Amino acid sequence: MRTVLIVAQSLDGFITRHDDAGTAWASSADQAWFRSCLPRFDALVMGRTTYETVRDVILAKRDDGVHRLIMTRSPEAWKDDAAPGALDFTAAIAAEVHASVVAAGRSNFAVLGGAHVHDLFLAAGLVDEIWVTIEPRIFGAGTPLVQARHDVKLTLLEQTRLDDSDSVVLRYAVSR
Ligand SMILES: NC(=O)c1ccc[n+]([C@@H]2O[C@H](COP(=O)([O-])OP(=O)(O)OC[C@H]3O[C@@H](n4cnc5c(N)ncnc54)[C@H](OP(=O)(O)O)[C@@H]3O)[C@@H](O)[C@H]2O)c1
Repeated sequence: MRTVLIVAQSLDGFITRHDDAGTAWASSADQAWFRSCLPRFDALVMGRTTYETVRDVILAKRDDGVHRLIMTRSPEAWKDDAAPGALDFTAAIAAEVHASVVAAGRSNFAVLGGAHVHDLFLAAGLVDEIWVTIEPRIFGAGTPLVQARHDVKLTLLEQTRLDDSDSVVLRYAVSR
């Protein structure tokens, strides 16, 4: 199974604009690119904070065959949203989440943030590729791409300027 971390960041490495939750700040080019990527994935994971910013969209997609896992230390608080095998809330560690997706026979797994979930999957060595959109913005403050210390080495696979924009998508493989 391939595990891909997909993220948009400002040039100075923030995934949120200051204290604003969500990704409304991202360019329309990136948002269209992100939407075009998602059908390639049959499982995805995000943190509870990110989930809350996209909850309505996800609840509307619960029956589309994609397995969505939400990391939270309080899964029971979300039992009304849960749909086993489609939308699961879990307090499992990243390695267990990953193993459960492998065991379910899924082939493409997307790690969709936020920073805490990036930390958990990168620290566990579970990310195969990173697809990052560099947005032509500088924020100076916000949620960083990662919050923990890492020393992850990457190999550039592809660089693409998104159509009619100043946004660049960089695709990296994580070196082992
Ligand atoms: N620019 C982008 O591409 C992009 C992508 C994704 C997200 N974002 C933005 O980033 C922000 C959220 O990032 P974030 O780092 O604050 O939060 P996050 O990673 O989305 O979620 C953090 C939550 O994950 C849960 N969690 C953390 N460690 C855990 C563990 N070991 N086991 C189980 N659950 C655990 C906790 O939920 P509980 O408190 O419920 O226990 C924690 O509050 C949002 O504003 C979102 O829109 C941007």
